[in-house]
Amino acid sequence: MTHRSSRLSGFYRLNIDDRLQTLKRFAELDDRDIELLRKTDALPMASADRMIENVAGIFSLPVGFAPNFRVDGRDVIVPLVVEEPSVVAACSNAAKLLRSGSGIETDTTEPIMIGQIQICELPDPESAKAAIVHAAPRLLEKANATNPRLVERGGGARRIETRIFPHTAVGPMLVVHLYADVRDAMGANLINTMVESIAAECHELTGGDICLRILSNLADERLVRAVGRVPLAMLERLDLGLDGTTVADRVVKASVFAEIDPYRAATHNKGIMNGIDSFLIATGQDWRAVEAGAHAFAARAGRYTALATWRREGDNLVGRIAVPMQVGTVGGVVHVHPTVGVLLKIAGTRNADELGRLATAVGLAQNLAAILALATEGIQRGHMSLHARNIAASVGAKEEQIDAVVAEMIKRRAINRETAANLFGQLYPTTPLT
Ligand code: MEV
Repeated sequence: MTHRSSRLSGFYRLNIDDRLQTLKRFAELDDRDIELLRKTDALPMASADRMIENVAGIFSLPVGFAPNFRVDGRDVIVPLVVEEPSVVAACSNAAKLLRSGSGIETDTTEPIMIGQIQICELPDPESAKAAIVHAAPRLLEKANATNPRLVERGGGARRIETRIFPHTAVGPMLVVHLYADVRDAMGANLINTMVESIAAECHELTGGDICLRILSNLADERLVRAVGRVPLAMLERLDLGLDGTTVADRVVKASVFAEIDPYRAATHNKGIMNGIDSFLIATGQDWRAVEAGAHAFAARAGRYTALATWRREGDNLVGRIAVPMQVGTVGGVVHVHPTVGVLLKIAGTRNADELGRLATAVGLAQNLAAILALATEGIQRGHMSLHARNIAASVGAKEEQIDAVVAEMIKRRAINRETAANLFGQLYPTTPLT
């Protein structure tokens, strides 16, 4: 395979046609793929109608692309579907910094999902638990019988565990956990079918009242870990009078703030999920499942904390993240939404494992971008220049005129429509009609 570089200097300056051509070359897309990206109605109404209920419309969002990623030695351009300005630019910039430190490296567990069976009305939870533990091999066999193809592909139910909650508002409760390797599926349907298939036997074994049978989104046995390094020299901000070491130390302080304070951790993690969710939407994933799992995982020690942390190690600023990644490349929207197919091709992720690794890497990059900005100039400057571009365009400035109007608005610290209209009039007076 030829080595493709995702290091695209000035991608943001290209017009949309040129960006599409760049993507076409990078991901070896065909003309049909490009047409799909161009279309604002790529998802046919009839497919949408089969996807959810009561359909009476289709909702579009922009897809931006973050170049510069290198993840596990592979160059990647990351598709991001998001409504918030700055997310794509921030991600690309952080990816550029991280690739200067040899890119992001990831590591995963097996794709193990958890299903739960809630058993109530138990006079003797301990003997109910013993009965489940004793019958575990049979229960696993039964769960696997629901999906022989999964077993053929190397997945399937692996083990059963039990947890007793002796004192609850509704009496003692036994919760059975079924752990299953779901391979390339997100796993919700597989797991739900498995736990439903063994529920009747759990009732027979325990005599209890079987209540819920559903997967847990706290997929803490389906984790992706990522680590990224930035050489300190790359962090210097001479314009702000800050050397790389000082910037790194400020990033570490920002990290520690999120590690110790849930109020800050929520915002820190929101920034991480800006990247992860945008990528998951682009690739047709159940991003709410990953959101739920990420936040629950962040609170696993009993106090909500940062999902990603940063420290100075030798001459590098080093970031580490761990996130439960319940993603899939078989089933779901992946084969239904035509644009998702093209975006997966661009991301180059061939299976759920690669998709989860990339999502986590994007989260780490997004976090670096956010806290780097916050620890130095603040985020409003970047936000305001994007906001200013929108205002300049809204008063009629053409693409080649926007920069000048924006620069002047920022210089005057007056970013509003009235100033934009005045400046536009002064800088580009229209030739009077004779
Ligand atoms: C904004 O969408 C996300 C940030 O608030 C994240 C953070 O504070 O780390 C910038």
